Amino acid sequence: MINKGSITLESERLTLRKLKETDAEEVFKNWTSDDDVSKYVRWSTHKSIEETKEWLKQEEINCKSKNYYTWGIVLKETRELIGCISAIFRQEEDRYEIGYNIMKKYWNNGYTTEALKSVMNYLINEEGIKKFICRHAILNLASGAVMQKVGFKYVKDGESISFDGTKRYKTKIYTLDK
Ligand SMILES: CC(C)(COP(=O)(O)OP(=O)(O)OC[C@H]1O[C@@H](n2cnc3c(N)ncnc32)[C@H](O)[C@@H]1OP(=O)(O)O)[C@@H](O)C(=O)NCCC(=O)NCCS
Repeated sequence: MINKGSITLESERLTLRKLKETDAEEVFKNWTSDDDVSKYVRWSTHKSIEETKEWLKQEEINCKSKNYYTWGIVLKETRELIGCISAIFRQEEDRYEIGYNIMKKYWNNGYTTEALKSVMNYLINEEGIKKFICRHAILNLASGAVMQKVGFKYVKDGESISFDGTKRYKTKIYTLDK
């Protein structure tokens, strides 16, 4: 497998680029501090910029490994950092798991769909990755809609527990094979 990592990707309205520790203030303000964004995901709302800084520091380290991709999503029009998208190899499933978050102000503008198409195109055609998995909380219909629009197919129901163990929720699991 070729491995160029989380290189910068361009789509019509978005630039996808590596996240940096110095993005902490903008990331915290735009989505990691928002309970509505963290409601259906495995991470919990960040209580301080420091927490976001720690997460970004860890992401920078993780992205150096060949099984781990994360991009910040930048809106070309305003240059705002509006969210993130990742693909992380899961040994248990032998697949890359896709995850994404967008700041609330920009929901339902097609940005995640556009970012995911760009990421899938890169991972499949340039990195040679063939197997993907994606899961969403049953009530998180918008997330399911994104997966379906990009070609993921529902396979089964599951259950997820947040990283800190405080949230447990039923999920729908989707896969895409090339
Ligand atoms: C899920 C999330 C990433 C979607 O981002 P987005 O940029 O708004 O996604 P898009 O605009 O590309 O697509 C959203 C789709 O969901 C649909 N949708 C939104 N709310 C919906 C609902 N309640 N029921 C059904 N579909 C819904 C929209 O109509 C749109 O589909 P369409 O383009 O066919 O009309 C965003 O809501 C988010 O960041 N949520 C919080 C974090 C999160 O849940 N991440 C995913 C964890 S699995």
